[in-house]
Amino acid sequence: MDKFVINGPNKIKGLVNVSGSKNAALPILAATLLFDKPVEIKNLPNVKDIETMLNLLKSLGSKIIISNDKKSVKIINSKKIKTYASYSLVKTMRAGILVLGPLVSKYKKATVSMPGGCNLGTRPINFHLNALKKMNMSYKIKKGYVHAFVKTKLNGKKIKFPKISVGATENLIIASTLSNGVTVLKNCAIEPEVKDLVNFLNLAGANLNWIGKRTLQIKGVNNLKSISYSIIGDRIETGTWCVLAALSEGKLKIKGFNPKLIQTELNLLKKIGTKIKCNNHEIEIKGSKNIKNINLTTKEYPSFPTDMQAQFMVLLCKANGRSIIKENIFENRFMHVAELRRLGAKIRIKDNKAIIEGNAKFEGAELMSSDLRASVALVLAAIVSNGESTINRIYHLDRGYEKLEYKLKSIGVDIKRVS
Ligand code: EPZ
Repeated sequence: MDKFVINGPNKIKGLVNVSGSKNAALPILAATLLFDKPVEIKNLPNVKDIETMLNLLKSLGSKIIISNDKKSVKIINSKKIKTYASYSLVKTMRAGILVLGPLVSKYKKATVSMPGGCNLGTRPINFHLNALKKMNMSYKIKKGYVHAFVKTKLNGKKIKFPKISVGATENLIIASTLSNGVTVLKNCAIEPEVKDLVNFLNLAGANLNWIGKRTLQIKGVNNLKSISYSIIGDRIETGTWCVLAALSEGKLKIKGFNPKLIQTELNLLKKIGTKIKCNNHEIEIKGSKNIKNINLTTKEYPSFPTDMQAQFMVLLCKANGRSIIKENIFENRFMHVAELRRLGAKIRIKDNKAIIEGNAKFEGAELMSSDLRASVALVLAAIVSNGESTINRIYHLDRGYEKLEYKLKSIGVDIKRVS
């Protein structure tokens, strides 16, 4: 298993280009199952989760033509799409469940492996199943698989999600696009990745309209037209670079992302003392010597994202006083805390709160990755630690960060991958 060896502390300076968003690309790739005509997706990040989704589409019968730089794919669906998504593919990437909506909608049946739990908690799919059932999908759960079918077509309905869910919103948007009549989805997730999916489908001829802040109206259409679409930049990667600059007194220019989409994170960084200048698709950021302590709560977009919680925790370990982070989205997203303590962090967990004493002095140590964002937080911490740190199990990082060690090297990090 590959690991990273980082020798800190490093002086951070330079330019980074943000890759395409993994979490926007995954539902858009799943939605290509709705197309009869070829469709091209551009600005894909070259990461493991995208490879897994493309393998899943291939296993269902889509022909995938990947460009040499692996950033674009042309997808041509065969006349005989299979409707079976296997455990071996879905267990490694929960977003595999996003093929359920398009398969039942277009092919009237689907057998899709239940994703199972993960390091963040139980992560059920009840909102996806209950909402699809309201649209006339019948299903049974047998031997770890959802066996679903629709007699004629999915029927448009008014559906209110009991709680905001990114995945359930996306699955239902995709399922409703070709359904009968009008669907109204209430209490939707409005993350930029959800909006990107809506833009993609509308460009292909779907009829989706935001009729309220969290209400989407979908008038079913019969088919979609061939298009070429470029995925938005990755907001979590962008936020991670911003935190790195803030943490290390670094100076970074970050290109390829619309800063308006991460106003909450940028405002928090300004509050703790970071200097930030934004242009159209560019952020200039300069960390300061003094980091102010703050309290944070993770919440659905546009509030502070759970996917940035671990990175901000590292930053607050270096603040000039006590900070509290409350995790509201996942029940088990503090796996990085024990590893940060190995570097010298003073953090206590009380229920869903992490109480972080500031002014930590990190000494390099051997560390273990647990999930994607926790792992990148360990990388950030290692960069500002004294001496050598080893980060094991970096396959978690390879799922979602493109060319991470190359980008880090180019801005001054002493990092190597050991296989
Ligand atoms: C998406 O996961 C992202 N994944 C996650 O990013 C992100 O952390 C999460 O949204 C929250 O922003 C992708 O986009 C591929 P949810 P998702 O459904 O859709 C509960 C990363 O690091 N829930 O919004 O699975 C659920 O347990 C990943 O890139 C139900 O109870 O998240 C959680 O507590 C990690 N029943 C909450 O809702 C359901 O049927 C929000 O989950 C669905 C969700």
